Amino acid sequence: MSLISTAPSPVFQDNLPQMDRFKMVTGTAHPDLAHEIACHLDVPLASAYVGRFPDGEIDIKVHDDMRGADVFLIQPTCPPVNEYILETVLLLDTLRRASAGRITVVMPYFGYARKDRKDEGRVPISAKVVANMLVASGANRVLTIDLHAQQIQGFFDIPVDHLWARPVLQEVVRDMKMDNLTVCAPDVGAVKLARAWAKNLDCGLAIVDKRRTSGDKVVMENVIGDVDGCDILLTDDMISTAGTIAEASRILKDKGAKRVFIAATHAVLCGPARERLAHAPVEQILVTNTVPLRGDLPDNLTQVSIAPLLSRAIQRIHKEESVSALFD
Ligand code: R5P
Repeated sequence: MSLISTAPSPVFQDNLPQMDRFKMVTGTAHPDLAHEIACHLDVPLASAYVGRFPDGEIDIKVHDDMRGADVFLIQPTCPPVNEYILETVLLLDTLRRASAGRITVVMPYFGYARKDRKDEGRVPISAKVVANMLVASGANRVLTIDLHAQQIQGFFDIPVDHLWARPVLQEVVRDMKMDNLTVCAPDVGAVKLARAWAKNLDCGLAIVDKRRTSGDKVVMENVIGDVDGCDILLTDDMISTAGTIAEASRILKDKGAKRVFIAATHAVLCGPARERLAHAPVEQILVTNTVPLRGDLPDNLTQVSIAPLLSRAIQRIHKEESVSALFD
């Protein structure tokens, strides 16, 4: 695996008077990302202890004074998802009771997002429950990246700043030598994202017809669009068990694709993901570090850091500037 990260450029240096009201806190989900963001912003992370009692209950103590501060809590909901969600709500409660002025949850990966509707009887809308928990515990704003579905923003009755990882990944994709490129969505839900990629790369668009048969199994039989003889860039919001990416790359090769490349935002990589990626007919897999990557990883996997983008967004939120201007 390789890691692409730009050199830190301290964005707060010209703005020292505001620094003492700015605080950044991390849970234990992704401290590396929090440290990287802190380095870009040239501010220290707040001193805090987040541990476990002997019975597994979460133990928290924030040492810095939070009174009146603009606090950014960095915590994606990667596996173990439920642990990190509870850690987040307890940290929020800590910060609220410590009289923080405003609390922004920086959740680069928002879990439970795929359960965003009641499409059969007697199932929860889990994404809404997680949103409710964050707001009820004290979140005043949310900063997130590539939500599985845009409408999840509406589950929060507080402002949500939504970032796109595509421009960050695209910087790297542009340097890859691809011929006769077609962007491909691995399912209908991914078409909007794939269309944005195709527009920016000025190339064609294809779609794989996917049917999910269980949490980790998918069936793919048809490809809509011409992929014969093309290099393919498969784009998706996340790789979870890698069933989608592995099957899509296989059917694309069956339909005559020359080479298959992957660009996905959230590398959750759970269950059989690593083995599936190792055997999938793909040239290169490009992901971000919205969630930490641990354990053995395929040699053809490159991780691009999202910290510079998050740092710029945090700076803009703190200074009450437009966040969407980042994408103009
Ligand atoms: C589905 O709607 C998502 O965009 C991803 O394609 C999917 O969640 C990936 O899951 P897996 O890697 O387990 O196939």
